[in-house]
Amino acid sequence: YDKRIEEFKSKLKSFPDFPKKGILFWDIFSAIADGPTCTLLQGILAETVRKKFPGINAVVGLESRGFLFAFSLAAELGVSCLPVRKKGKLPGEVMSYKYDLEYGSDVLEIQKASIRPGLRCLIVDDLIATGGSLSAAIHLLKNNGADIVGCLVVMELESLNGRRNIPSGIAVHSLVKYD
Ligand code: PRP
Ligand code: MG
Repeated sequence: YDKRIEEFKSKLKSFPDFPKKGILFWDIFSAIADGPTCTLLQGILAETVRKKFPGINAVVGLESRGFLFAFSLAAELGVSCLPVRKKGKLPGEVMSYKYDLEYGSDVLEIQKASIRPGLRCLIVDDLIATGGSLSAAIHLLKNNGADIVGCLVVMELESLNGRRNIPSGIAVHSLVKYD
């Protein structure tokens, strides 16, 4: 397992000064442009969920890069695939959560019909940086009665200490860590 994670890590590429000067951007798409790397990552993610987050009945993906892993894991495990999206993108009745950004605020939404009390959710995304996105998704789901089993991300930028923004008691597992 650890060897496969090392192999996957070796496939990840970073881009300096993207999208702004001073930011080192770790790009999931460069890695999954390679077919065998998709299979490798899918295997690692599914094994991680079976080991660390057993008993889930929904995988919640954060728009947009989280969708990649939400559907592939849901299909593999035979559980619900649920999207959390930015305001105005989901039809039907939605539940929303407004959260603060560095400048201004944003709103995340989930379809009401897909959330029910006792839903055991795993939240997935490609990356935890400041933790703002994950934390907002956690609040959105909790406020609407879902049970959050944990969060799984492919990459973690440890220097940003995003975990400090995650409500206590919520497990966050990352496959690959960077300083
Ligand atoms: C990126 C990334 C995570 C989030 C991490 O998404 O895919 O979702 O930022 O940052 P945080 O921990 O500081 O919240 P982005 O908002 O760039 O959108 P995208 O997934 O649609 O590319
Ligand atoms: Mg994202």
